[in-house]
Amino acid sequence: MAKLLCFVSFLLCSQLFITSSVSAASSPALCPQEQSNALLKLKSSFSVDSWASISCADEGVTNYAKTDSWKEGTDCCKWDGIRCENETGNVIGLDLSCSWLKGPINSNSSLFLLKHLQNLNLAHNDLQQSKVLPEYGSLSSLTHLNLSSSNFNGTIPLELSRLSRLVSLDLSFGNSLTLESSVWNKINLTQFRELVLDRVWMSSISPSTFANLSSSLVTLSLARCELKGEFPHTIIGLPNLQKLVLLENHELTGNFSKSSWSNSLQHLDIWFTQISGHLPDSIGNLKSLQHLNIQRSKFSGSIPASLGNLTGLSYLVLAENDFTGLIPHTLSNLHQLTIFALAENRLSGAIPNMFGKLSKLIGISLRSNHLIGQIPTSICNVSNLQVLELGNNSLSGGIPSCLVNLKQLSTLDLSYNNLVGPIPTGNQFSTFGNESYVGNPGLCGVPLSKSCGRA
Ligand SMILES: *[C@@H]1O[C@H](CO)[C@@H](O)[C@H](O)[C@H]1NC(C)=O
Ligand SMILES: *[C@@H]1O[C@H](CO)[C@@H](O)[C@H](O)[C@H]1NC(C)=O
Ligand SMILES: *[C@@H]1O[C@H](CO)[C@@H](O)[C@H](O)[C@H]1NC(C)=O
Ligand SMILES: *[C@@H]1O[C@H](CO)[C@@H](O)[C@H](O)[C@H]1NC(C)=O
Ligand SMILES: *[C@@H]1O[C@H](CO)[C@@H](O)[C@H](O)[C@H]1NC(C)=O
Ligand SMILES: *[C@@H]1O[C@H](CO)[C@@H](O)[C@H](O)[C@H]1NC(C)=O
Ligand SMILES: *[C@@H]1O[C@H](CO)[C@@H](O)[C@H](O)[C@H]1NC(C)=O
Ligand SMILES: *[C@@H]1O[C@H](CO)[C@@H](O)[C@H](O)[C@H]1NC(C)=O
Ligand SMILES: *[C@@H]1O[C@H](CO)[C@@H](O)[C@H](O)[C@H]1NC(C)=O
Ligand SMILES: *[C@@H]1O[C@H](CO)[C@@H](O)[C@H](O)[C@H]1NC(C)=O
Ligand SMILES: *[C@@H]1O[C@H](CO)[C@@H](O)[C@H](O)[C@H]1NC(C)=O
Repeated sequence: MAKLLCFVSFLLCSQLFITSSVSAASSPALCPQEQSNALLKLKSSFSVDSWASISCADEGVTNYAKTDSWKEGTDCCKWDGIRCENETGNVIGLDLSCSWLKGPINSNSSLFLLKHLQNLNLAHNDLQQSKVLPEYGSLSSLTHLNLSSSNFNGTIPLELSRLSRLVSLDLSFGNSLTLESSVWNKINLTQFRELVLDRVWMSSISPSTFANLSSSLVTLSLARCELKGEFPHTIIGLPNLQKLVLLENHELTGNFSKSSWSNSLQHLDIWFTQISGHLPDSIGNLKSLQHLNIQRSKFSGSIPASLGNLTGLSYLVLAENDFTGLIPHTLSNLHQLTIFALAENRLSGAIPNMFGKLSKLIGISLRSNHLIGQIPTSICNVSNLQVLELGNNSLSGGIPSCLVNLKQLSTLDLSYNNLVGPIPTGNQFSTFGNESYVGNPGLCGVPLSKSCGRA
């Protein structure tokens, strides 16, 4: 067998003889010495400090000093965070995310000797205002580059556009990283699957350039990038798109009525943008949708009844738009719902008695609409409810006394309605001040100064 392989590949054969004359031909090659040395040199350029990866601890992500397992005289392919190519032993993967690394990466770093790297992840360390150096552009085999949350600072260099094999790029949450249009326009976007640039300053970049992203796209995350102008509506229709985040680009416009939305969509967050449109009736086909947040944007029209088909939806926030019409009773099917917020729209009609099976809800906010009718008693079944905001509507009738069963309730807003009668007492209700009830002249009892009298 070994003889045959020698015949087929002289390279592989010589590798086998040099590294280990006893190993079987099928076992993977060992790490080349010069790459092992480069890694050890890289290790020694950092100090180890658990605080450098505190963001991982905060998020409950495993974090430890991966480089502790890096020891001279051992096969680097077996070290933590290293992946080698089987045939050659070349180091092709370096995952140092959440590894307690502290210290800068300079242009003389031995990192840049690892020319075979395909996958480089330095996320969640404290690289102390390192620059994204031109040298990263010389790692020409890179398909995945992740420098997220590692205290990188400065301007993204033109050389990054040389990484023509890149399918996944994450530069999110650096320390005032800037991406200029002169660099951006040189990056070929067609093959990207993941592009995560949250908090990268991109104010010189025209959002229309995102139109060059293709059907390969799975994740696009551009939170707080200072993007201005019209975002291409075609993106939300890309067939493999699972996650689209555009939140807090306050001057980003666009119209999402013009496309049918991708059936792959799981997570849409465009909170606080100028993006407008209607929720399409076809939204009922997005069976994977879990998170829908379009708060504080410019959406209008009605809330489609077909939303009730999305039984995996857990986060539904349509607040601070211009929705009109009724709250569809089909939403009673959304058994996974945890947050339900439609506040500050122009919704009318009664609140459907829809909450009986929504046992996972922790927040309901319908404040500041034009809702009428009574408070539905099915809210009393939502035993984990913590926040209930129904203020500033035209609700009438009494406050259901069964609401005192909501033992987790910590915020209650029923103010500015037409509610009448006594305020329930007991349990959480002893903790709410009169601001929960003001603006309902017909209400009486503690904590309001108006007593209910003897009747
Ligand atoms: C490399 O070797 C590992 C372990 O021996 C094996 O699981 C993996 O499939 C191999 N990869 C390739 C590309 O041959
Ligand atoms: C690498 O460069 C930095 C500053 O650019 C310098 O402080 C450091 O001594 C250099 N290290 C080596 C090993 O040359
Ligand atoms: C980080 O980058 C910003 C903008 O590029 C710059 O103003 C700031 O001085 C940099 N900080 C350091 C410590 O280099
Ligand atoms: C970058 O790495 C971090 C830490 O491992 C991870 O949470 C994040 O999802 C990665 N980004 C991409 C685009 O895969
Ligand atoms: C961009 O990349 C795609 C896919 O790799 C390739 O077909 C296309 O020619 C590239 N475009 C430019 C302008 O380099
Ligand atoms: C898309 O890429 C092509 C070629 O790289 C470029 O000419 C064109 O301007 C780009 N389109 C947008 C909208 O950026
Ligand atoms: C959005 O596009 C739809 C469909 O083309 C159109 O009817 C609607 O008026 C547009 N809305 C805005 C705010 O531009
Ligand atoms: C989706 O919801 C609408 C309206 O509630 C309903 O008529 C339709 O049958 C549902 N479609 C599917 C596939 O569940
Ligand atoms: C709500 O709770 C009441 C009493 O606890 C129960 O009788 C009723 O069936 C529940 N409603 C739903 C829709 O589960
Ligand atoms: C009450 O709602 C109306 C619109 O329905 C809004 O204009 C007003 O600002 C709201 N008031 C408060 C105190 O939220
Ligand atoms: C609310 O409580 C404050 C202080 O306890 C009291 O001065 C005020 O009159 C009360 N307002 C109403 C509407 O009961």
